[in-house]
Amino acid sequence: MASEQSARLWRNPLSLAGIVLAFVATAVGLPLMFVDLFSAFNSPYAGILIYLTLPGAAAFGVALALAGILWERRRQRLYPGEPSPSLPVLDLNDGRQRLTLAVYAGLAAMVMVLLSVTGYRAYDYSDSVRFCGMVCHSVMKPEYIAYQRSPHARVLCVACHVGPGAKWFVHAKMTGLYQVYSIIFHKYPRPIATPVHDLRPAQETCEQCHWPAKFFGAQQKLFTHYLTDEKNTSWQIQTLLKIGGGDPATGAPSGIHWYMNIANDIFYAATDAKRQVIPYVKAVDRKGHVTEYFSSESTLRPEQLAKMPLRRMDCVDCHNRPSHVFNTPEQAVSRAFAAGLADASLPGLKREAMRLLAGEYRTEAEALDRIGKDLPEFYRKTHPALYARKAAAVRQATEVVRQIFLANVFPEMNADWRAHENNLGHLTSEGCFRCHDGEHKSREGRVVSKDCNVCHTIVAQGAPAEVAKARLQAQPFKHPVDVGVDVTQVKCDSCHNGTSGL
Ligand code: HEC
Ligand code: HEC
Ligand code: HEC
Ligand code: HEC
Ligand code: HEC
Ligand code: HEC
Repeated sequence: MASEQSARLWRNPLSLAGIVLAFVATAVGLPLMFVDLFSAFNSPYAGILIYLTLPGAAAFGVALALAGILWERRRQRLYPGEPSPSLPVLDLNDGRQRLTLAVYAGLAAMVMVLLSVTGYRAYDYSDSVRFCGMVCHSVMKPEYIAYQRSPHARVLCVACHVGPGAKWFVHAKMTGLYQVYSIIFHKYPRPIATPVHDLRPAQETCEQCHWPAKFFGAQQKLFTHYLTDEKNTSWQIQTLLKIGGGDPATGAPSGIHWYMNIANDIFYAATDAKRQVIPYVKAVDRKGHVTEYFSSESTLRPEQLAKMPLRRMDCVDCHNRPSHVFNTPEQAVSRAFAAGLADASLPGLKREAMRLLAGEYRTEAEALDRIGKDLPEFYRKTHPALYARKAAAVRQATEVVRQIFLANVFPEMNADWRAHENNLGHLTSEGCFRCHDGEHKSREGRVVSKDCNVCHTIVAQGAPAEVAKARLQAQPFKHPVDVGVDVTQVKCDSCHNGTSGL
C-alpha cells in the first residue's frame, strides 16, 4: 500500500516533465562526453555544453520531479478522496503495443545520437578558425590573413582570445553579441583598435602552451636588408638574441625572459591608448624590493603619476603581434629579395616597391591596379633598354609587390604596420625603447638600460659576402650609412618608419 502510494506521487505532469528532461539531457550528454573525451582537441565551447549546460538541465529535471512529488503529496493531503490524474496504460502483452513502443524507442535513440553529433559539430564550428576569420569576413580580414602565415597558423583563434573556462566563455559571448551588432550597423572601428583591452591575461592563454620558465638560451638571428640606392645594396646583421629563461634545471637563469618575466614583476603606466608613451615603470623583484623609474621626458608630477592605473607587464606587452604580423614595406621587400622571389638586380626596385606599398589608397583594388601599372611604367620610362631585356623579371617583381600588398596592407580597414606596430624590437616603432631609452631613471640613479649589448650581441655585420666569411665576435653596431649623428644616442624610429620615407 505504501509503495503504491509513493509510486502514484510521481504520476503528475510536473514530475513527468522533469523526468523526461533529465532523461533527454543525460541521453544527449553521455554520448557527447565520450566524443569529447576521445576527440583530438579540447574545445572550450563544447566543454560548456557537455560539462555545464546538459548536466545543469539534468539536475533541473530531477529538481522538477521532486517538486512535482511534493506538490502531489500536498494535493493528496488536501483532497484525500480525489483520484490522481490517470496516465495511459501500456500493456506489454499486446503485440501491437510492443511493436509501437519498439519503433518509438528506436526512433528516439536515433534522434538522440543525431542531436549529439550535430550539436557537437555546431560547437566545433563556432570555435573554428573559419567561423572566427570568415563569418565577419571584411572586418577580420587583416587579422585572418596575417594569422594564416604566422607561427600560430594552426592555433585556434579562441586559444588566445577566449581560453578555457566558463567565465571567459560568457564574457566572449557577451562581447560577441556586441560585435554582431556593430557589424550589422557598421559601427566597428577601422582599424579594430589595439591593444585589445579585455584580452585575457597571458598566463591563462599563452602559458597554456609556452612554459614561461623554459630556457631558450641565445638565438642566432640574421637580419637581411637592402638599401634604397640604385643597386639595392644588401646589408646584413648577424645577432645573438639573449632570449634566456628562468629554470636552473635547464640552463642558468638569464636573458630577456628571466629579467622581464620571472626575476621581476614589472608594472607601468601609459599616457596614450596604445601604451606607447610610458612615463613611469615599477620593478618588483622576487624579494619584494621595489624600484621606481621615472621618464625624464615626462612632465607629469609624481602625484599625477600616482593616480594613473598600472598595467602588469605580461607576454603580450612585448609579443603583441604573435599572430597578426603586419610587415613593414621595408621588411617585406627585403625578405622577398632574400628569398629570391624578386630580381634584386633591377635598379632602384627596393625604393620603388616601398614607395608603391606605402602609397595612399582607398581600396585594395585601386592599389593593385596602381602597382600593376606604375612599376612596369617606371622601368619603361627610366630604363627602356633594360626593360626590353628584362620584361619578364619586371612582371615577376610587379606580381610579388602586389602579393606583399595583399598580405600586409588593408586599406578598407586602415590596418597595416602603421596602425598595428610591433613592440618586439625597436627599429620602426619604439618597442623595447619605450622604457629602455636611457631616460627612465630611479631616484637611486639606476637606469633602464639602453646598452646595445643587454638584449643582444652583434657578431657580424656588413655585405652578405663579408658576413658569410666573418669570424663571429661581439662588436659595436655599425650603421649601414653615415647619417651624420651617433644613431645609438637617439631612437631608431625617429628616422625609421618602415618605408622609403624612412
Ligand atoms: C597566438 C595567439 C593568437 C591567435 C591564435 C589569434 N590571435 Fe588575435 N590577437 C592576439 C593578440 C595578443 C592580440 C592583441 C594585440 C594587442 O593587444 O596589442 C590580438 C588582436 C586581435 C584583433 C584586434 C586587432 C589587431 O590586429 O590587434 C583581432 C580582430 C583578432 N586578434 C582576431 C583574431 C582572429 C580572427 C584569429 C583567428 C583567425 C586570431 N585573432 C587568432 C593573439 C592571437
Ligand atoms: C595552443 C597552443 C599555443 C598558444 C595558446 C600560444 N602559442 Fe605560441 N606557439 C605555439 C606553437 C605550436 C608555436 C610554433 C612552435 C615552433 O614553430 O617551433 C608557437 C610559437 C611561438 C613563438 C615563436 C615564434 C617564432 O617566430 O618562431 C612565440 C614568440 C610565441 N609562440 C608566443 C606566444 C604568445 C605571446 C602567445 C599568447 C598570446 C602564444 N604564443 C600562444 C603554440 C601556442
Ligand atoms: C620583455 C619582452 C618580452 C616578454 C615580456 C616576453 N618575451 Fe618572449 N621573447 C622576447 C624576445 C625579444 C624574443 C626573441 C624573438 C625575436 O626577436 O625574434 C622572444 C622569444 C620568445 C619565444 C621564441 C623562442 C625561440 O626559441 O624561438 C617564445 C616561445 C616566447 N618568447 C614566449 C614568451 C611567453 C610565453 C612570454 C610570457 C610568459 C614571453 N615570451 C614574454 C621578448 C619577450
Ligand atoms: C614597460 C617598460 C619596459 C619595456 C617596454 C621593456 N622593458 Fe626590459 N626592463 C624594464 C625594467 C624596469 C628593467 C629593469 C628591472 C630592474 O630594476 O632590475 C628591465 C630590464 C631588462 C633586462 C635586463 C637588463 C639588465 O640591465 O641586465 C633585459 C634583458 C630586458 N629588460 C629586455 C627587454 C626587451 C628585449 C624589451 C622589448 C622587447 C623590453 N625589455 C621592454 C622595463 C621594460
Ligand atoms: C631592451 C633590449 C634591447 C636593447 C637595449 C637594444 N636592442 Fe636592438 N633589438 C632588440 C630586439 C628584441 C631586437 C629583435 C627584433 C626582431 O626580432 O625583429 C633587436 C634588433 C636589433 C637590430 C636588428 C634590427 C633589424 O630589423 O635589422 C639592430 C641593428 C639592433 N637591434 C641594434 C641595437 C642598437 C644599436 C642598440 C643600442 C643603441 C640596441 N639594439 C639596443 C632589443 C634591444
Ligand atoms: C638620423 C636618422 C637615422 C637614425 C636615428 C637611424 N637610422 Fe638607420 N638608416 C638611416 C638611413 C638614412 C638609412 C639608409 C636607408 C636606405 O638607403 O635604405 C638607414 C638604414 C638602416 C638599416 C638598413 C635597412 C634599412 O632600413 O634601410 C638598418 C638595419 C638601420 N638603419 C638600423 C638602425 C638602427 C638599429 C638605429 C637605432 C639604433 C638606426 N638605424 C637609427 C637613418 C637613420
